[in-house]
Amino acid sequence: MGLTKSNLWYTIVASIFVLTAAAPHKKAYIVYMGEKSHKDHNVVHAQVHSFLADTLGTLEEAQRNMIHTYKRSFTGFSAMLTDDQAAQIKRREEVVSIFPSKSHKLHTTHSWDFLNTIDSFPAQNSDPSGCEASGQDIIVGVFDSGIWPESKSFNDVGMPPIPRKWKGACQDGEQFTARNCNNKLIGARFYTNGYDASDPELQKTFIKSARDTDGHGTHTTSTAAGRIVNGISFPGGLGAGAARGGSPNSRVAAYKVCWDDCKDPDILAGFDDAIADGVDIISASIGPDPPQANYFEDAISIGAFHALQKNILVSCSAGNSGDPFTATNLSPWILTVAASSIDRRFEADVVLGNGKILQGLAVNPYDSQFFPVVLGKDLAAAGVTPANASFCHADSLDDVRTKGKIVVCQHEIPIESRGAKAAEVSRAGGAGMIDINPEVKDLAQPFVVPASLTDEAQASILRAYLNSTSSPMAKFLKTNVVLHDKPSPKVAFFSSRGPNTVTPDIIKPDITAPGLTILAAWPPIATAGAGNRSVDYNFLSGTSMACPHITGVAALLKARFPYWTAAMIKSAMMTTATLSDNTNSLIKNTFTNTPATPFDFGSGHVNPVAAQDPGLVYDISLEEYTSFACGLGPSPGALKNLTITACPPNPIASYNLNYPSIGVADLRGSLSVTRSLTNVGPAQSHYRAKVYSPPGVIVSVYPSELQFTRPLQKISFTVSLSVQQRSQDFVFGALVWSDGKHFVRSPIAVNATAIAS
Ligand SMILES: *[C@@H]1O[C@H](CO)[C@@H](O)[C@H](O)[C@H]1NC(C)=O
Ligand SMILES: *[C@@H]1O[C@H](CO)[C@@H](O)[C@H](O)[C@H]1NC(C)=O
Ligand SMILES: *[C@@H]1O[C@H](CO)[C@@H](O)[C@H](O)[C@H]1NC(C)=O
Ligand SMILES: *[C@@H]1O[C@H](CO)[C@@H](O)[C@H](O)[C@H]1NC(C)=O
Ligand SMILES: *[C@@H]1O[C@H](CO)[C@@H](O)[C@H](O)[C@H]1NC(C)=O
Repeated sequence: MGLTKSNLWYTIVASIFVLTAAAPHKKAYIVYMGEKSHKDHNVVHAQVHSFLADTLGTLEEAQRNMIHTYKRSFTGFSAMLTDDQAAQIKRREEVVSIFPSKSHKLHTTHSWDFLNTIDSFPAQNSDPSGCEASGQDIIVGVFDSGIWPESKSFNDVGMPPIPRKWKGACQDGEQFTARNCNNKLIGARFYTNGYDASDPELQKTFIKSARDTDGHGTHTTSTAAGRIVNGISFPGGLGAGAARGGSPNSRVAAYKVCWDDCKDPDILAGFDDAIADGVDIISASIGPDPPQANYFEDAISIGAFHALQKNILVSCSAGNSGDPFTATNLSPWILTVAASSIDRRFEADVVLGNGKILQGLAVNPYDSQFFPVVLGKDLAAAGVTPANASFCHADSLDDVRTKGKIVVCQHEIPIESRGAKAAEVSRAGGAGMIDINPEVKDLAQPFVVPASLTDEAQASILRAYLNSTSSPMAKFLKTNVVLHDKPSPKVAFFSSRGPNTVTPDIIKPDITAPGLTILAAWPPIATAGAGNRSVDYNFLSGTSMACPHITGVAALLKARFPYWTAAMIKSAMMTTATLSDNTNSLIKNTFTNTPATPFDFGSGHVNPVAAQDPGLVYDISLEEYTSFACGLGPSPGALKNLTITACPPNPIASYNLNYPSIGVADLRGSLSVTRSLTNVGPAQSHYRAKVYSPPGVIVSVYPSELQFTRPLQKISFTVSLSVQQRSQDFVFGALVWSDGKHFVRSPIAVNATAIAS
């Protein structure tokens, strides 16, 4: 048939055209070349350009395709390359790794927004002062969506001049000048090249400067180190009180590496600068979608590895994916933070027309009137299935019938955005949302319409009422903030779980901290994240919010113990973490109500007071980290440029890294694990080991008593593990060293795969 022929012809012509005319597709790649190759960064810059020119032909081509050069703290670059060019570069022996740019997400969602007051800092831990004045020397670098410099949380009243060690900058940009920095906010940089290169077609308009239009960066920065600000409150006067960050006197520097998301080239550029600028601690509430890439094909891991070389602690969020095997930011040189609740509930009750009360959670600043209640499935727009309308997905509700109604929405999958459902109800003119989700439990937020998140038990009260009348009505009551809620903390359902998918011997996450309904500073223009309100302080949830709590505690420790390494600070927090909630039971998981395991919360819930007196710490030298890293390469040769020190012939086994927790992912029969403790308590200290063996595994410690006689003395010991009963899954235990006053606890996680002979 003629028609078919001509169609066929047309198709062939079209594909010939594509084959001949289209330039080979380029994409953004990171080329990582390890340690700084020369101390003068101008030299490194020239070397890197000439390296790329070797592949692309000319220096002009190299310049045209360069995204960022990394030269201040390590060597490498990001560039637009074809797959062939990338393959050529991969063969060059200077290259440690080359990988396509990936996107990372801020570890919260725009829908998890909140209201209220008070300090977001763990309520049960009183002010760990004493060290706060000296916190002024500590510089916290935050990798995020930028900063709202006018926030009261970043005022510099009474703060002394900027520490001399600071080599950073306050970069001019749109609606942001160097005058926006002060003695509190001492640095602000932004990185757009990687984001722009990711999709040159898409010209998203955003403010090209460190100014935060999203809110996330302002929130995390003020949680880590915001100053104490009295007399703040949310609309409706909910929860008036004071806001404060973890280390209120520390200095902060904003590194804006995130726009809609955060691209590898920009993240790495942030690390290249922050390390050279002289930050003491880096807080990054961002991460890749699971599963995460190997450490040297992941910008955050690479950057953090070089931060470590300069003794800079890097604190990151574990992610909000909830399920086992989803934790990210897994390298042992990152402190990986899970999220848990605090002892505060935001009750958003709904009064039904029959007088019954439906209990739920949300942040509603005001009482509403009575409105008719309708199930989402009965409001489907033309062409939408009732099932889809029941989930209140975008554009699923009919405008005419939704107008003025309270809509009942369901969840298709548990971690769907509640904010997006409320936005759909608002778009269609609805008066409010009742959201039924079995995983609601403890997550409250403000929405664009009055709302209440409720579980199945409450939903049955609602359904019975809906059945009993032809004109069901309901109204929302102003949120009632309940303090001293029990039990708390609980590990949040969304907090990403271990085991570690890259190095299963290293238990991840490391620790948990408050991450639910956290109040912190907010840009007044970021209304989308605040229930369509202009606010100066807002509530968010996520491991994003937990991470800066840990950053704040780390800043306090760094101020108090300037000579401690990043590994010592991390160990102090992990070995003193608490396991019990405010009912003196083991901390539980929100959804399952089962006791949390190390794969939920690592070593436990941070205890800022105990962390200041750990007694003993597990330190890790740069040589040990390097040896560990060398063990990760396909061959030690592949990592030869990683650091100035060459790889040792026999890299350390990952279970023998001197980590503050103990993991063996493939325990066949018997194995001895070594660790070494450093005395940071009284010179004369006598410790005894107490073992809580995982089921089916015999654990013994040798020596079982340690006598320290001087400060910073190191003593090694071995932990012998012997399988009596195969588990085929991880089983958990613990090792606790105690002198009667200090309790230096390490969780143990082993997968017992074969019985000892
Ligand atoms: C990496 O190693 C190669 C070969 O050993 C060496 O020639 C090169 O200078 C090194 N590159 C850097 C950036 O140190
Ligand atoms: C229902 O929603 C799904 C996505 O959840 C979509 O793929 C499908 O096309 C929708 N169907 C209708 C008829 O709206
Ligand atoms: C409501 O009524 C429907 C049928 O009219 C019934 O299937 C359903 O079980 C009832 N629900 C409740 C909670 O009473
Ligand atoms: C936000 O509020 C404005 C003004 O009150 C309104 O026009 C807009 O529709 C609201 N946006 C949403 C998503 O509800
Ligand atoms: C434990 O080891 C067994 C045997 O190698 C393996 O099949 C299983 O997946 C492991 N469990 C986990 C949680 O990694």
